[in-house]
Amino acid sequence: MNFNPFTPTFGTSPSHPVGREEIIADFRTSLHQGPGAPSRAMLLVGTRGVGKTVLLNELEDTAREEGWLVVSETALPGLTTRLNDEHLPALLASLDPHPTTRRITGITAPAGLGGIRSEVSPKHEPKRGIRGQLTTAAGLVNHGILITVDEIGRATVEELAELMAVIQHLFRERANVAIAAAGLPEEVAALLDHPGITFLRRANRRILGAVRREDAERGLADPVTTAGAHWEDSALRAAVEATHGYPFLIQLIGYHAWNAAGGVSDGDAVAIDGAAAGNAIERAAVELGNLVIEPTLARCTALERAFLEAMALDDGDSRLADLITRLEKSPDTVSQYRRRLLDRYIIVATGHGLVRFAIPGMREYLRRSSEHGPLPFW
Ligand SMILES: Nc1ncnc2c1ncn2[C@@H]1O[C@H](COP(=O)(O)OP(=O)(O)OP(=O)(O)O)[C@@H](O)[C@H]1O
Ligand SMILES: [Mg+2]
Repeated sequence: MNFNPFTPTFGTSPSHPVGREEIIADFRTSLHQGPGAPSRAMLLVGTRGVGKTVLLNELEDTAREEGWLVVSETALPGLTTRLNDEHLPALLASLDPHPTTRRITGITAPAGLGGIRSEVSPKHEPKRGIRGQLTTAAGLVNHGILITVDEIGRATVEELAELMAVIQHLFRERANVAIAAAGLPEEVAALLDHPGITFLRRANRRILGAVRREDAERGLADPVTTAGAHWEDSALRAAVEATHGYPFLIQLIGYHAWNAAGGVSDGDAVAIDGAAAGNAIERAAVELGNLVIEPTLARCTALERAFLEAMALDDGDSRLADLITRLEKSPDTVSQYRRRLLDRYIIVATGHGLVRFAIPGMREYLRRSSEHGPLPFW
């Protein structure tokens, strides 16, 4: 059977999203509270695969449940044009059941035979600008309008600045509008330096990280239970630990565990045992390496990578003093690289002069790749 209740694909909402309930509840409260509630402007920041897109989807669902209308966008070039020429005209059209006015301009045949000549003219001019259209729409809605912008970053800084200026204005006019944006840490950091983005800097910033153990457990167990199967206790415990609370790993491990256990066939409930969990944990590590760790390392400079490789020699946290010795660089240089890696959430500071890998499995990945290259052809 091909069915698998897990979704290890970027941008795909899982059947059982876990761990972001507090943010969602705050957001819902802000919709009730009215203009001025802080969570009506949310900025989600987090590393690849931590669940930014999924959370934006959940915020959109929450807004719809509250009767709000949603405009969902990604910060790709052309953002403001798409809003102005497509989304907002469509939004206005949906708000007004009679988006055109019909004016009788003449009668050319006996009425009743369809001879009335009329002219159809749009009431809402298509190019009234984002601000004009949003203001009109905000005045027509029963509840409010949520705009979400995924993958914000440097590439669209000018367009984002333009959009934020409009939103800021609507906030000031106490319109029922909310915004939720999401981006990678390094992109958001670069963006917030831009003077036009002040509004976003003041937004309610939520740094997405690991989910709690009990959430990871629900994330692994609930889809399986719902599908009529179950985990053996020790298998579930091992799988939960191997996720490290990283949402993408919940889906990857769950997906492979389900497959390794043979799925469920015709109501014949299958248990996921230790062997299936072990197999899944290994496969998930390889895929995480290919999909998250390798692309992250590919964007590091040679010295940043050397820093990470020097860290990989330690089994636990790394001491900055040791890294300075291993890298044979000045303390200043090493601190500079530490800062850059911290800013991108590749490492975290765990104490004075201590750092740790932020992405699960990166240490093992670096160790593996320095041990062996590809197999030679025979
Ligand atoms: N709350 C959650 N509970 C369980 N699984 C989740 C949760 N959030 C995300 N996931 C899963 O994690 C993976 C990554 O999610 P998502 O695409 O939202 O990450 P992202 O932060 O947007 O990544 P990127 O930076 O690449 O855009 C997906 O497979 C998704 O199904
Ligand atoms: Mg995403």
